Amino acid sequence: MLINTVKLTDAEFVELKDIIYKNSGILFTENKKYLIENRLSKRLSELNFTSFKDYIYYLKYDVRKRMEMDTMINLITINETYFLRERGQMDYLVNTIIPDFIKAGKRSVKIWSVPCSTGEEPYSIAILLMNAGLYNKINIDIMATDINSDVVAIAKRGEYHSASFRGVPSDFISKNFRQEGQSYFIKDEIKNKIRFNTGNITSPTVSMIAGRMDVIFCRNVLIYFDMDGKKKAVDMFHKTLNDPGYLCLGHSETLNKLSDDFTMKNFGTGILYMKK
Ligand SMILES: C[S@@+](CC[C@H](N)C(=O)[O-])C[C@H]1O[C@@H](n2cnc3c(N)ncnc32)[C@H](O)[C@@H]1O
Repeated sequence: MLINTVKLTDAEFVELKDIIYKNSGILFTENKKYLIENRLSKRLSELNFTSFKDYIYYLKYDVRKRMEMDTMINLITINETYFLRERGQMDYLVNTIIPDFIKAGKRSVKIWSVPCSTGEEPYSIAILLMNAGLYNKINIDIMATDINSDVVAIAKRGEYHSASFRGVPSDFISKNFRQEGQSYFIKDEIKNKIRFNTGNITSPTVSMIAGRMDVIFCRNVLIYFDMDGKKKAVDMFHKTLNDPGYLCLGHSETLNKLSDDFTMKNFGTGILYMKK
C-alpha cells in the first residue's frame, strides 16, 4: 500500500519534537523534520489521522497514550548496529579488564550494553568472552537494554541476516550461529548469557533496574542527545559503576566538556573512560 507522507507544520514539529525529547532524550533538530514525517506517516494512516495535529492530541490525551508513546518511539529511533562493531574496546575488555579483575580476586563481573539495539553488541561481547574461556574463570553477567521494545524483541529472538555481519570473520558466524536459509540464529548457549530489557537511559528508574555495574558499553546513542540529556546519562552511569568501573562510548563520542568524573584511557586501538 502506498502511504502519502503527511506534512508537519512548523508548530506541530516543535510540539512533537518536545514530546519526543521529554520521553526519550532524543533531540530532533529542524533538519530532521522529514525523518519524523517519513517514519510516522504510516502510523497516522493506520490510526486514520490525516494531520499531525490529531496525532499529537491522541499522544497527549487518549487513554492509550502510554502505549502510543512506546509505538512512536519504536518508529523514530535509529537502530543501526552490527557484530563486532568498534571491536577494540571489546578486545580490551577480554584481554585486560576481565583478567585484571580475576587477578584482583574479583568473583563476578557485571557488564551493561545500553543501548543494545537488536543485540549484536552484547552478543559480540559474550562470544569474545566465551572464546577466551573467561566464563570458566569468573561469573559474568551481561545485561542489555534499549528504549525500543521492537529491537529488544529481535535481540531476544536472536535471528540475524547478512547485514549484521559486515566485515565479520566467517568462523565467527559458523561457530556461533545456526544457519537456516537466509537467517542466522544465535546459539542458545550464547543467547542464555544475556538478560535483555527495555529502558530509557535518561530516566532515573533505569539505574534501579540495572543495579551496580563494572563495565558499561554506551555507544552510538549520546550523539542523538543534547548536552543536558548526555549529562543525565553520564551522571547515571557514574553512580551505577563500581570502582574500578569502565565506560565505553562510541568512536565519535567523548566526555569532553561533559564530565570531570572519569579519566580517559587510550589503549592503542581505542579509548575508554575509568571512573575517578
Ligand atoms: C545506533 S544504535 C546503537 C547500538 C549499539 N550500541 C551500537 O553501537 O551498535 C542506538 C540505539 O539507541 C537507542 N536509544 C535511543 N534513545 C535511547 C534512550 N533514551 N534510552 C535507551 N536507548 C535509547 C535506540 O533505540 C537505538 O537502538
